[in-house]
Amino acid sequence: MDYVSGIETVFRNFWYPTWRLDQPAETPTKVDLVGEPIVVFGSGDSVGAVRGRCPHRGADLSKGFVQGNALVCPYHGMRFGPDASCAQKVEGGPSVRLVQSRLLNLQKDRFFLWASPSTAHHDMMRVAEHIDITKRYFIGGPMFWSASAPQMVDNFLDVAHFPFVHKETLGAETTSSNNLTVLTSDELSFSFTYRHLARRIIGKLGSSDSVSRTLTYRFIPPFNVSIRIHYDEVEDEDQILLLVVPLGPGRSMFYKIVSTGNVPEVDVRKKEADLQQAMTAEDREVCEALPDRMYLGQSEIKLDFDEPGALLREKYARIIAQ
Ligand code: FES
Ligand SMILES: [Fe+2]
Repeated sequence: MDYVSGIETVFRNFWYPTWRLDQPAETPTKVDLVGEPIVVFGSGDSVGAVRGRCPHRGADLSKGFVQGNALVCPYHGMRFGPDASCAQKVEGGPSVRLVQSRLLNLQKDRFFLWASPSTAHHDMMRVAEHIDITKRYFIGGPMFWSASAPQMVDNFLDVAHFPFVHKETLGAETTSSNNLTVLTSDELSFSFTYRHLARRIIGKLGSSDSVSRTLTYRFIPPFNVSIRIHYDEVEDEDQILLLVVPLGPGRSMFYKIVSTGNVPEVDVRKKEADLQQAMTAEDREVCEALPDRMYLGQSEIKLDFDEPGALLREKYARIIAQ
């Protein structure tokens, strides 16, 4: 296969952050997951999810309603509990165990309800390994982009676009002060560092006109990127985690979790948040104009700092071949 779109069957084996736990779903809400509709319902501890069609006669469960902890089918009233492992015809009546293929694999951490539409033989990623939750952090999203998940991840790992796409935020003169270095390359993931000068960082160092930063990137399959931003002149580090969920062809949802290190001033944190938001908007414009599928072959054109894109294509080729 020469291309990847993000909704190939093999991607159903991974886990996705499907719902923010601090977001109530009192009315059933449809979310497409790797091309398959699922329905999230309930709130807090009892939030659950089922596949979008009722196993009885195929009714659209997003048209159902929530009663107690259960989602009730709008057609004949079958009730589904939060983990959907069994359904009841009437409240208190005998429950029917659903066959394995009907079930979604569900897990919760402190941030999200994670779901996997298939047998989920990959481990779920741990947000807390990438974001220091003892520091200040915020979660942005879900944001919905008309772009394919692999193309978004390619953009998030790409540092060669900084002086062009981010000229308004990082500055057109943003340069590397030494080479990009690949740190690790495992079977399905890789990491690298990149050091550069950012001209118009408005947060950490007040209004200073140039900041040296070392960025450490890690690609976590299938569509997640962790970035640690070290400010070379102050002992401080920001952490960013980008979680992309493929919804359908050329459609994705994503979350951005940002930990802004030790900076105490509200004012500076606000500037950091504004900067993150502005950069996200710049990336969005580019990503939404890219093709819905990503070419997996290597480009004949070699630019500086292109290694992450080449490595990413190699990892996706391997995932697709599984
Ligand atoms: S279709 Fe859902 S209970 Fe009949
Ligand atoms: Fe970018």
